[in-house]
Amino acid sequence: MTDLHMHVLPGMDDGSKDVRTSIAMLKRSASYGVDTVAATSHFYAEQNGIAKYLARRQTAYNRLTEAIGERYGFPRLLLGAEVLYFSGMSATDDLDALCLEGTDLLLLEMPFVPWTDRVLREVEAIQRSGLQVVAAHIERYMDIQPRRTMEAFFDLNTFIQCNGEFFLSRWTARRALRMFRQGQIQFLGSDAHNMTSRAPNLDEAVQFIEKKLGREPVSRFFADVDYFIGA
Ligand SMILES: [Fe+2]
Repeated sequence: MTDLHMHVLPGMDDGSKDVRTSIAMLKRSASYGVDTVAATSHFYAEQNGIAKYLARRQTAYNRLTEAIGERYGFPRLLLGAEVLYFSGMSATDDLDALCLEGTDLLLLEMPFVPWTDRVLREVEAIQRSGLQVVAAHIERYMDIQPRRTMEAFFDLNTFIQCNGEFFLSRWTARRALRMFRQGQIQFLGSDAHNMTSRAPNLDEAVQFIEKKLGREPVSRFFADVDYFIGA
């Protein structure tokens, strides 16, 4: 099972604050069957250029993997980023360096305001440049976008990532299940930041889906995830 969205690297953002927390997050994930974790620390173009971000990320990754050492049973870590939308990003050199390691998948955090046509065209341009956009936690935007905007966004055929919470909130669970059943969701993530308020919780979402839809669709889903990430 792959968790495609986790702020697991120590000291990179508002996620894991130290190596100890990162290790606990990975252990917890492994305990319910996660074998691959995408380390998707926030990338804010205003704060860091890509080169600086990558250097910081490498340092954090090295600290974590050195602390894990030869210990057995940890999920495989794939380096990635959660890239906050910025104007002109499709024309940015090296944008592909922010893709999930070994893939063309770019985890994109959309703006938390209504999207203009220009925003949608920018996403389209990223896709045309050869990268495959994965819209991070799409459920967080669905209520702030007019229905027409959301439809136009889905027409761009990006991949869609949802957080576990989408399935666990009584207000959104039905919608989440419907989207899952209809194949509109390609990736799941915990979007975990720590071991307290936002701990890894994909197990709860997966158990819920299995209870409602059965095991088979879930194992098919994660087999597809493996395919997309080249596992
Ligand atoms: Fe996130």
